[in-house]
Amino acid sequence: MERNILEEKFFEKYGNRSLRPVLFFSPGRVNLIGEHTDYNGGFVFPCALNYGTYLLIRKTNSNTLNFSTLNFDCDESVSISGMFKNTSKKWINYPLGVVNEFLKRDKTITGLDLLYHGDVPNGAGLSSSASIEMVTAVALNDLFSTGFSTLELVKMSQKAENEFVGMNCGIMDQFAVGFGKKDHAIFLNCDTLNYENVPVVLNNNVLLITNTNKRRGLTDSKYNERRSECDKAVEYLQDYKKIRNLSELTSGELVLLEKYIPDPVIKKRAKHVISENGRVVEAVKVLRENNLARFGELMNLSHDSLKEDYEVTGFELDTLVYEARKIPGVIGSRMTGAGFGGCTVTILSKKHVKQFIKELTIAYTSKTGLDPDFYQPEIGPGAGKIN
Ligand code: GLA
Repeated sequence: MERNILEEKFFEKYGNRSLRPVLFFSPGRVNLIGEHTDYNGGFVFPCALNYGTYLLIRKTNSNTLNFSTLNFDCDESVSISGMFKNTSKKWINYPLGVVNEFLKRDKTITGLDLLYHGDVPNGAGLSSSASIEMVTAVALNDLFSTGFSTLELVKMSQKAENEFVGMNCGIMDQFAVGFGKKDHAIFLNCDTLNYENVPVVLNNNVLLITNTNKRRGLTDSKYNERRSECDKAVEYLQDYKKIRNLSELTSGELVLLEKYIPDPVIKKRAKHVISENGRVVEAVKVLRENNLARFGELMNLSHDSLKEDYEVTGFELDTLVYEARKIPGVIGSRMTGAGFGGCTVTILSKKHVKQFIKELTIAYTSKTGLDPDFYQPEIGPGAGKIN
């Protein structure tokens, strides 16, 4: 949405045209490979999108935070008096959780008018929530001159999501939207938080995101279940090695799972995490060598492992991925994000995009009764102020 239209909506809502609000943007993200590895201290390879959340914000003389969004009907005012508690108004828990992180660090937050507008679909595995958190975090940091580094803001946003919203996510999403760089993906070690920006050169190919449009159901509870299954695997493996997380093991040690993990389900979960880490490292290497064909194969293998061993895909994601792979020009296709619904990411040749959209829509709709949505994103920069 154009800035002046957004600004007009802001003034319609909050009045006082003499005081212009400041504009911030935070992207969503798509993860190219490295799924369900972040909370296991592993590698991920996400990139920031040119879709995300815009926030117009200005200070007021009052003692209230006025929240509004253009995405749905929601106007909420909360007064500032000590720490906030999680509210039943689900959406404002994201920004409110971030405000709380500032308060916890003894920063003074005074009255604000805030207007959000997101163009990344909600709950589709493209980190709409991390995007709302980070846009709030960078805006507060700027307006109140609190001096937090990007990494601190990323950690504060993750904490808001873990402790205030109550979703026990890893650090990938907030990190990706905080540290995104145009035309680059982020090769992040989630244990050390060391990272490198790797150029994504696709030659005559493009990234295409496809939304299953499946309603998000059990994602959060299944997500937490997977996390505890990984903890269980680490427990079993103590007899072999004193590891802190599954990512301390390499693909060469996969054979040992048979010996140390008696539970077949837990064994499969560990196998996914350890093999996925290996795939991320290889994917980054081959991308640097401009070997997109192998990169695509690794994307496919990643999805297969998420389906067979980690069991987080489901009929809709699998249909999109396996039907996509039948269409000419497709280099690789996999689910992205937490799974169970949400989106797939595909690399395919530019000239096949139209055919892809047409054929995949027909196949997917006839099998699932749902209409997919397609987005052709660019890889953009991380969260910040827009001048
Ligand atoms: C969600 C979480 C991330 C990560 C992915 C799976 O997006 O927020 O932290 O665990 O799922 O890779």
